Order: sequence, then C-alpha cells, then structure tokens
Amino acid sequence: MSLSKQSEKTAYKRPFLRLLAGQAVAGSLVVLLDMATGSWMGPMVGVGAGVGLEIWVLVALQAVGAFVVTLFLGLGRGWAAIQFVLPWATWGVLYLDIPSWVYLVCFILTYALYRNVGSERVPLYLSNPTTWRALEGVLEDMGAEDNRFIDLGSGLGGTISYLGVKYPGWRFEGIESAPLAFMISWLRTLGGGQGNVSVGFGDMWDADLSKYSVVYAFLSPAPMARLLKKAIDEMRPGGVFISNSFWADGVQFDRCLELTDGRATKLYIKKI
Ligand SMILES: C[S@@+](CC[C@H](N)C(=O)[O-])C[C@H]1O[C@@H](n2cnc3c(N)ncnc32)[C@H](O)[C@@H]1O
Repeated sequence: MSLSKQSEKTAYKRPFLRLLAGQAVAGSLVVLLDMATGSWMGPMVGVGAGVGLEIWVLVALQAVGAFVVTLFLGLGRGWAAIQFVLPWATWGVLYLDIPSWVYLVCFILTYALYRNVGSERVPLYLSNPTTWRALEGVLEDMGAEDNRFIDLGSGLGGTISYLGVKYPGWRFEGIESAPLAFMISWLRTLGGGQGNVSVGFGDMWDADLSKYSVVYAFLSPAPMARLLKKAIDEMRPGGVFISNSFWADGVQFDRCLELTDGRATKLYIKKI
C-alpha cells in the first residue's frame, strides 16, 4: 500500500485515543504482572509470588508493551517509537523535581503550535529558502500584477513574507489554525512585506479557493486527496496548485520540480 493511501486510511480516526489506549492496555498488563509477581499489591492482598520486579523492569515492560499495542492498533512505527520513549521520559522527569505548572505551560504551548497533528495529521515544519526561490520562479511565469496567492496552513508565515517582498503587485495570504503559529505569523506579517501580505486565523477547509490564482500547501500525505479534490472543484481555470512534498494517488500533476536542498524537496505543480 502506498504511503498516501495508508495515511488516508488511518487519517481522522482518533490517533490520540489509540495512543492513550496503547499506554492504557500496556499499563494494565504491567499492573497485572506486577500483582502476579507480588511486588505491588501482592503482599497486601495475599496474591502473587512475592518476588517483586525492579521499577526499571516495569518501565521497560510498559515501553515495549505500548510499542507493540500501538503497532497492533494500526498507528505507524513513528508513533510506536514515541510510545516506547514516553514511559522512560515520564520516569526520568519524576527525578527532576520540576514544578507542576511547567508541565501545564509546556502542554499549552505544544498544543498551541501543533494542534493539527491530532486532527489533521499535519505537524509544523517549514518551507526553506530554496523552496521560496523555486516558488518565485513559478510565479515569474504568471505575470507581475493582479494575482492572489494563498498558503494553506501558513505556519510561521515565512513563505508569504518572502514572496510579498519579491512581488509587490501580488497579494499574499496565509490561513493557519494553530493559535501560536498564527500569532507569530500575524506579528511577522503586520508591518512586513509591502502591505501585500496578511494571515488569517481559521481552517483551510473553509477557504474559498476560487479567489486565488496560486494555492500552495505543505502539509502531509493525510489530507492530500481531499485537498486536491477541493482545489480542482473550486479553483478557476488557469489557476495553479502547488504542493510541497506530498501528492495523492490517482491525481495527475503537470510538473514536478526536484530541488537541490538538503531534504530533496519536490514541488508538485498542477494547472487547473
Ligand atoms: C508543514 S507546516 C507548513 C507551514 C508553511 N506552509 C510553510 O510552508 O512554511 C503545515 C501547517 O499547516 C497547519 N494546518 C494543518 N491543518 C490545517 C487546517 N485545517 N487549517 C489551517 N491550518 C492547518 C499546521 O498547523 C501547520 O502550521
């Protein structure tokens, strides 16, 4: 099964619940084992062999159990690896004596920056300057004036800020639904560019793509089939849809630019 098909299959099916279930199932098994060997409740309730397992053994069992159960629940190896690390990290930070409010602040900041990992399976990573310059080359072919460009999921606003300076006759817009990323990009675009750059807080699925001559997205495999359908349905003939790195099976693209940056970025380009 191809990457994009696999991602579509598993997208939007509550990955966080499955992650929680992975730790919970592994945890339940570890508690039962601990009881059976008598190191926890065993001596008190009169069950178990009274052997007692070292704490690091229990943590290791939890980590391996969560890894296996996560794979079994259909999440990929990347998620399973995170599940493996979590019990060790939790055990480790207990020794650091960190005040509890620090965890709350970390959680809020992480959510505010990465909220789309859970709902859309799209994390925050950024287009690099090589990609910005390649996009500049694509816009070059479209004339200098009266064009509108949108970055769907605009992250920290780097792409639109760069292009805004290069193309004063165009309008560059971003839409972003992670609150902290939006705030950073909003501040960045406030006085920057040539007054032709703006970013809005919102869901890209609500954007009306018929307004734009160029639509750019750098997301993940998971939303691509749905997003390409939206672009084809809504964009005007002659419009250009560009996706950084990800595409969907069964949909034709017109060009693929292979960049010579460290990540060997591919820009898939479709003329509507
Ligand atoms: C991989 S980053 C790309 C950032 C930026 N476009 C760039 O190229 O540097 C993807 C961004 O899309 C945002 N995102 C994901 N799903 C979204 C949605 N439904 N609506 C708005 N933003 C979304 C994420 O929060 C994240 O900031």
